[in-house]
Amino acid sequence: MFFLILAAALLPAGLSAPVADCDTLTRRVQIRGLDQFLGVWTYAAESTNMPGSKILTKTFVDNVWGKIYPANESDSFFVFQVQKMFGRCYSVTSKLTLVNNTLHMEHPISATEVLITTSCPDCILLLSNYTLGESVYRGIQLLTRRAKVTTAEMDEFKRQVACLDLPSPAILDADKGFCSDGSASKDTETTDLTSMLSQADPEYMKALDNLLSSQGGIKTILQFIAS
Ligand SMILES: *[C@@H]1O[C@H](CO)[C@@H](O)[C@H](O)[C@H]1NC(C)=O
Ligand SMILES: *[C@@H]1O[C@H](CO)[C@@H](O)[C@H](O)[C@H]1NC(C)=O
Ligand SMILES: *[C@@H]1O[C@H](CO)[C@@H](O)[C@H](O)[C@H]1NC(C)=O
Repeated sequence: MFFLILAAALLPAGLSAPVADCDTLTRRVQIRGLDQFLGVWTYAAESTNMPGSKILTKTFVDNVWGKIYPANESDSFFVFQVQKMFGRCYSVTSKLTLVNNTLHMEHPISATEVLITTSCPDCILLLSNYTLGESVYRGIQLLTRRAKVTTAEMDEFKRQVACLDLPSPAILDADKGFCSDGSASKDTETTDLTSMLSQADPEYMKALDNLLSSQGGIKTILQFIAS
């Protein structure tokens, strides 16, 4: 009986804790300048509410790293991202511009991104809205200066993802070896997808979005890959 009363006394605090937690865990951070973004990053994990994204990421993508370097305009930078998929290497370059504490991207897809708090000392956490076809999706990405984050850091990220009402994240695999940047060695060929994506017919993006949003669409994509 005593235990029960004790437990009941603890209950309200226990119930309200996660909410307060979520406020702290999803606090937006002021972007003080672009310098903090520059350099090399590993993409540790991602979550997005785009349907099928997790299964497709787990199926397609081994790992991703990126290099951020300044653009000519003082409020912009380029993100050169190299993705390893099926042991092959693909790159894409995008340009982001800082306006009013928000990063804006036009190509290859339209997106806005803000910075979210993290206790990981060498990470950044980017929360975004992005458009595919006629749909707007939300996503969050954890980037680190190291090859991988600690279990505690990944656990914090998972809690943040849950607070933001996003699906459990796809965690990328640093152990599969990263692609080179494509400039140094000739033996690892890196295919640049930037212009293909930027010039993609809006109808194609719409069709892709419809495919991803439909029940059978993801199955179709997975079967196409397997064949
Ligand atoms: C940046 O500026 C330099 C010199 O003005 C120019 O040669 C270069 O093409 C510019 N780069 C971009 C990406 O606009
Ligand atoms: C900047 O952001 C603040 C807060 O979100 C908003 O109130 C303001 O209108 C924005 N200003 C511009 C120029 O977008
Ligand atoms: C995404 O869109 C929602 C709804 O318009 C807005 O409240 C939020 O601030 C946006 N987030 C980002 C990262 O642009």
